[in-house]
Amino acid sequence: MPEPFYITTPIYYVNARPHLGHAYTTIIADVITRFHQMQAADVFFLTGTDEHGDKVVRAAQKENLSPREYVDKISRLFKELWPELNVNNNYFVRTTDAAHMEVVSQILRKIYDAGDIYFSEYEGQYCFGCERFYTERELVGGKCPDHEVEPEIIKESNYFFKMSRYQNWLIDHIKQNPGFIRPKRYRNEVLAFLKEPLEDLCISRPKSRLKWGITLPFDENFVTYVWFDALLNYVSALGYPDGERFAKFWPVAQHIVAKDILKPHGIYWPIMLKAAGIPIYQHLNVHGYWNIEQSKMSKSLGNVVDPLQLRKIYGLDAFRFFLIREMNFGLDSSFSETALVQRINSDLANDLGNLFSRILSMAHKYCIGQVPQFDLQAERELGLDLQTGALETIDTFEGHMQSFEFHKALMAVWEFIARMNKMIDVTAPWVMAKKKSSQKQLATVMYQLLEGLRIISGLIYPVMPGTAQKMQKYLGLDPAGPFYHLNQLRNWKALPSGTHLLKSIVLFPRIEAQKKTFAASTQKEEDAKSLKFKPEITIEAFSRIDLRVATIVQAEPIPKAKKLLKLEVDMGQKRTLVAGIAERYSAEELIGKQVIVVANLKPAKLMGVLSNGMVVAAVDDSGPTLASIEKKVAPGTPLK
Ligand code: MSP
Repeated sequence: MPEPFYITTPIYYVNARPHLGHAYTTIIADVITRFHQMQAADVFFLTGTDEHGDKVVRAAQKENLSPREYVDKISRLFKELWPELNVNNNYFVRTTDAAHMEVVSQILRKIYDAGDIYFSEYEGQYCFGCERFYTERELVGGKCPDHEVEPEIIKESNYFFKMSRYQNWLIDHIKQNPGFIRPKRYRNEVLAFLKEPLEDLCISRPKSRLKWGITLPFDENFVTYVWFDALLNYVSALGYPDGERFAKFWPVAQHIVAKDILKPHGIYWPIMLKAAGIPIYQHLNVHGYWNIEQSKMSKSLGNVVDPLQLRKIYGLDAFRFFLIREMNFGLDSSFSETALVQRINSDLANDLGNLFSRILSMAHKYCIGQVPQFDLQAERELGLDLQTGALETIDTFEGHMQSFEFHKALMAVWEFIARMNKMIDVTAPWVMAKKKSSQKQLATVMYQLLEGLRIISGLIYPVMPGTAQKMQKYLGLDPAGPFYHLNQLRNWKALPSGTHLLKSIVLFPRIEAQKKTFAASTQKEEDAKSLKFKPEITIEAFSRIDLRVATIVQAEPIPKAKKLLKLEVDMGQKRTLVAGIAERYSAEELIGKQVIVVANLKPAKLMGVLSNGMVVAAVDDSGPTLASIEKKVAPGTPLK
């Protein structure tokens, strides 16, 4: 029996909506899960959301929701996204789950009782964005490296976890287990960090400052620091301390994270486990960052990539393939739609897609649409040896998948695809078809090619499960069965002769590059190229539009209308307006703002509220941005 396998993604903060980066990590976890299913292993795949802390409270306030309402809303977005990307996680953990909170309490108590937590006053440089203290040497030019703002000095009494006590133990552990943190560059990074004395970790926040968290079991005036809370999801979700799942899966735990959270996972987490008397996880697998055409993905740059959009435009499997093939696990990668289109056209449409339709149409032409009988004698005469190539490919694939070198695993499969395409050219079945004496040879070549397709469909299963199943169906096999089991793939000539094949199809249509663009940065270029202005009007026609400056005096959400806000404005006279800006602006931040209103627009009822005019805004991919006036003017002032 193969060993069970436990894989986790980071639990994502609910202060942002899911994007390409989250999708990548979670798809990788899905790919590795499916790979272990190929080995017939029992797998547990965990993902979830991180829901406590300051950031979340602030994000909730911005949306005019209570923290509870807010976390429920965003957590659901993550939870519902994964099935859309064909991600099959076994469980979705939330740090606001009662079971998780209970485990955090238990472990804190255990570590406290063991004497590894102490109370002390601390003055330090605190970044509110990161929700943590920074040491001088961690700052870059005196600023937080992530948020690029100067941290604030705060002084408070807090609880500290004696991490320093375990520093030497951790160094030894990393040195004795070379694959503990991988790839190597991140192991070296952690070891380099551990060369300097480790500071103890502040693990509490006073309730006077933050209430949205798990109360410390030994002092109800404090809540637990988010990282201490979040990391424990990996054991709480398995039913720690005595769940059956915990016993089975914890000894084989592997985590996947990006380089941004190497330190909490490579340092805090093993030390927390050690202090709590829990065995240490097996591997921390660290990948790089997706940048968008060389720059960091960020809301302010307006280049955040939505995975659902990509799925919609290019198809789910093509999107998944691109992510896995393009990124060298461990290094950064640059996302661009041009690269995506190129990969789809060359690797998927040309190489795999062509091979598939070529073989199926030949099988219909020359073998009455059935898997033919192979002939050993003909095989020998032809000197065909696709079997050795197939078995070597499976071994290479398995080795690379095992060591998280996914792009290399795919490269091996594509070499095999190239080899099969070449075999068609060399054997030229269309020539054999014309000679009566070559019929056995023709059948043998066709059998081998169809068998090759069966192997390929199994090997692409982790990355492109939908396409793998489609290929099975067209090969007349059972797409619901465990066709991807490595044992089955290694069983050369398992394809039964006489199986009815379906008529050939195009697996991946070619994409015309100009037609499809979506990523925000390229979208902007496209917009600039194709800016279409409305037909010319006269000044007289323009003067019929009554534009006025209005001051917002009151704002409130409209029940059940996610996007709408009801505004009371002053424009010399009081007016009620409805504006579709609720996803970008909170009611509070609007009070007192001056905006531009089309004052003579015909009134319209929106969600039961009569809107007497329209607020003007610039609208792009990220939503509406209100137009305003450069200096304050009297409400009602007209625009010309
Ligand atoms: N809540 C913490 C993790 C706690 S785990 C106990 C957190 N959340 S996060 O929402 O910020 O997610 C960070 C993770 O999202 C990264 O480690 C990575 O897995 C993924 N990514 C976010 N942006 C990314 C890229 N641009 N590129 C690749 N992955 C990225 O940190």
